[in-house]
Amino acid sequence: MDSVTRLGVVGCGLMGSGIAEVAARHGLDVRVAEATLDAAKAGRRRLTLSLDRGVARGRLTEEQRDQALSRLIFTHDLGDLADCQFVVEAVAENRDIKIDVIRALDKVVEDHTAILATNTSSIPVVDLAVATERPGQVIGMHFFNPVPVQRLVEVIPALTTSAVTEQRTRDFSEQLGKRTVRAPDRAGFVVNALLVPYLLSAVRMMESGGAQAQDIDQGMELGCAHPMGPLRLIDLIGLDTVQAIAESMHEEFKEPLYAPPALLRRMVTAGHLGRKSGRGFYPYGE
Ligand code: 3HC
Repeated sequence: MDSVTRLGVVGCGLMGSGIAEVAARHGLDVRVAEATLDAAKAGRRRLTLSLDRGVARGRLTEEQRDQALSRLIFTHDLGDLADCQFVVEAVAENRDIKIDVIRALDKVVEDHTAILATNTSSIPVVDLAVATERPGQVIGMHFFNPVPVQRLVEVIPALTTSAVTEQRTRDFSEQLGKRTVRAPDRAGFVVNALLVPYLLSAVRMMESGGAQAQDIDQGMELGCAHPMGPLRLIDLIGLDTVQAIAESMHEEFKEPLYAPPALLRRMVTAGHLGRKSGRGFYPYGE
């Protein structure tokens, strides 16, 4: 199967910009669509900052950064993705929004062999697949944060996904330098099904006064060699995202351990979303 040369990415938040960055650095032409012009500009800024940081850390040269930037087009018109061979949507973790986006993509992407992948962390892939005229070419492609660093992509075929689509998605993930695991189309897939109850347990431990945030995090960093403790990791992922994943898992399995604790809900309501909002379990500078 030919490798992908033109990728579409919808959504340029934390995950979308990471996916676009990795693809551009692997030589693909990438069209990044956002809902508004302002959001598209903010996406370009986020991605440029990340590439600049890579140059400052000696991970890429200025020339490589400039080449990557020249392969990226930011737009607020989904129609600019018409000739893409592969599209990954990475919009907010909300079922209705994702269904709207995948329906719109199904209409605008002209190549009828093109694959529409969703970077959902918890919404059933089949719900999105059946909203399109090409359910055999819709698949889950779950990246991990920070996308340029984490090596894994979970590949989630829905009941409707064809074997060819699954193989092309695995090949495409490898083209991006990632390793894949196959995950079932059920809330949480493989990784979040194991990770999220652990993260929620850490919030409950803090909520019940059992331990302070720093002690919980240091416990797991120094005692178990995790690169970051659970509360720092929630700050990295985003408290709103963790809440949304937990809600999907709880809705599907009715398992009390998956219910978002009250403290997490209150912090989300207060806008303490973690690194991206400047405050979560810890404060973050500008
Ligand atoms: N973009 C690009 N590179 C980055 C980066 C980013 N956003 N953040 C860190 N890096 C790079 C650094 O530049 C550095 O590379 P170098 O060694 O070549 O210079 C390397 O990663 C290590 O970074 P730092 O030295 O700054 O910091 P740490 O050593 O503390 O690593 C970390 C930071 C990579 C975030 C590490 O702590 C880690 O891996 N944490 C765990 C993250 C994790 O578990 N992610 C999965 C979350 S679950 C998920 O995403 C699923 C979703 O559905 C919720």
